[in-house]
Amino acid sequence: MATLFPTLAAQFIFCLFIVLARADDQSFVRTMDRKLLGLKKEKVSHFRIYWHDIVGGRNPTAVPVVPPSSNSSTAFGMIRVIDDPLTMGPELSSKMVGRAQGFYSSASQQEVGLLMAMNFAFMEGKYNGSTITILGRNTVFSKVREMPVIGGSGLFRFARGYVQAKTHWFDPTNGDAVVEYNCYVMHY
Ligand SMILES: *[C@@H]1O[C@H](CO)[C@@H](O)[C@H](O)[C@H]1NC(C)=O
Ligand SMILES: *[C@@H]1O[C@H](CO)[C@@H](O)[C@H](O)[C@H]1NC(C)=O
Repeated sequence: MATLFPTLAAQFIFCLFIVLARADDQSFVRTMDRKLLGLKKEKVSHFRIYWHDIVGGRNPTAVPVVPPSSNSSTAFGMIRVIDDPLTMGPELSSKMVGRAQGFYSSASQQEVGLLMAMNFAFMEGKYNGSTITILGRNTVFSKVREMPVIGGSGLFRFARGYVQAKTHWFDPTNGDAVVEYNCYVMHY
């Protein structure tokens, strides 16, 4: 008995410790009232913008950071970092509404298929400072490519949706391209 008692006491203290530790573990998470975050009604926004990928010339907006594997016909392995203007019209001189910042990499060995990972950083009007994040597969020679919008910030918090990209113009001599992006985004 004399030897059992300390063991039981020790077990009790140990269990108490575990219970307290558990309670403590979960105290960093709490359920919130949606209204406090201003989450009233989810809406769907559509916008059409033009993405300018300038690869050639003296002021490129897309720069290579990893070259393609030497004998690949699909530039497999290539990575380019981009800071591409997003404009309202197809001409680069039309009003700029933001920039597409991120990178794309050639991730297909059978066809030209890019992995796009980019933020559309808006700079116009009430959207100035808000972003949406696009992560998806872009087979650039397909007529329409669809990519998911996986999130956003600012006015696009909790964003989800998709974009449809359509090449408006492509210069095969230097790789410059203008792509029409139709974005469909659910947010609050
Ligand atoms: C690239 O090189 C490898 C090994 O030298 C070869 O097996 C493969 O067929 C080549 N691919 C192309 C697209 O030429
Ligand atoms: C967007 O916000 C930045 C930083 O707050 C500001 O410097 C810039 O003038 C704004 N642009 C427009 C078009 O409102």
